[in-house]
Amino acid sequence: MGGYRVAVVGATGAVGREMLKTLAERKFPVSEVAAVASGRSAGSEVSFGEKQVLKVQSLDKFDFHGWDIGLFSPGASVSAVHAPRAAEAGCIVIDNTSQFRMEPDVPLVVPEVNPEALNRIPRGIIANPNCSTIQMVVALKPLHDHFKIKRVVVATYQAVSGAGKEGMDELFSQTKASFVNDPAAPEHFTKPIAFNCIPHIDIFMDDGSTKEEWKMVVETKKILDPNIAVIATCVRVPVFIGHSEAVVVEFEKPVTAGEARAVLRAAPGVVVVDTREDGGYITPLESQGEDATYVSRIRKDPTVEHGLAFWCVADNLRKGAALNAVQIAEVLVAQGLLPKRAA
Ligand SMILES: NC(=O)c1ccc[n+]([C@@H]2O[C@H](COP(=O)([O-])OP(=O)(O)OC[C@H]3O[C@@H](n4cnc5c(N)ncnc54)[C@H](OP(=O)(O)O)[C@@H]3O)[C@@H](O)[C@H]2O)c1
Repeated sequence: MGGYRVAVVGATGAVGREMLKTLAERKFPVSEVAAVASGRSAGSEVSFGEKQVLKVQSLDKFDFHGWDIGLFSPGASVSAVHAPRAAEAGCIVIDNTSQFRMEPDVPLVVPEVNPEALNRIPRGIIANPNCSTIQMVVALKPLHDHFKIKRVVVATYQAVSGAGKEGMDELFSQTKASFVNDPAAPEHFTKPIAFNCIPHIDIFMDDGSTKEEWKMVVETKKILDPNIAVIATCVRVPVFIGHSEAVVVEFEKPVTAGEARAVLRAAPGVVVVDTREDGGYITPLESQGEDATYVSRIRKDPTVEHGLAFWCVADNLRKGAALNAVQIAEVLVAQGLLPKRAA
């Protein structure tokens, strides 16, 4: 049986490992998979599916000729150099880093929201949005289609896995250290993350917002509608996996909580869990390993004419990264958009 030759770049990282898992779980049609990372981990091994073990290859020496799809998550500065190199060799790149997201000739895609953006891939590079943006636009899209969004105010509660392996290690070691009364100094994060919340993700911008907050604003506009006003406050919390968001939305048209619930229930990729009783909502721990974007706590915002508030949770390594990238690859396959197919 034919299939595609897929190179996973950043295969030893939090996102790359999830990509390998997702490709196998969803039975993406592969004829060969390459695990690629830095020279530091060349020769080490990663698992693909239940049975296969892949030897990690060095990105610097990897030749992309003959590879159909590159699923990239090696960090922005590395993608900046190697994604164009792969694309020039004829390998379609789906890049998880922030490097190309806002470039006008690079589609920024969430398959449930704007799959039509894949009709034009002039540079052979497709960008996967930021993890916090992805889950928010999956929930906003059906509401925008029905009630037209004017403004979004969002506060995020982002898991440490959003900062990769190092972020997870730091929460683990600081938590452990606190129980033996031997506090570990922050290395990756700016302040202790165990038993704490840090209102700072990525670098500060001139206007006082952080780059993570800026990404949520500009990416939502690019994916959904440039007329939507967005303000975000992004916070790192001591959760390993699963980003949560408190979202407040102002609409042009009248909307009730019941109407919004019905629209969200019918939307692709969304699962509504909202029973207004103890435990009748989803927490990040429950989203771990799941594909859905969960919406809970849907209620009216009485402070504006047409407003709603809700709680939105998704696994940041899956829908926020690996799953979204693999779904993009699935659309390329389904729509015959890949330039060639391996024999
Ligand atoms: N975590 C998330 O929720 C999330 C969501 C969306 C997007 N992203 C983006 O995805 C990227 C990776 O995130 P992550 O969480 O997977 O980070 P991570 O756990 O730190 O993994 C980084 C990966 O990149 C590889 N790498 C680093 N430098 C490299 C180089 N010079 N050449 C080749 N490979 C190199 C690493 O390989 P070695 O093991 O050899 O060092 C590792 O495989 C980041 O740009 C991040 O912003 C992350």
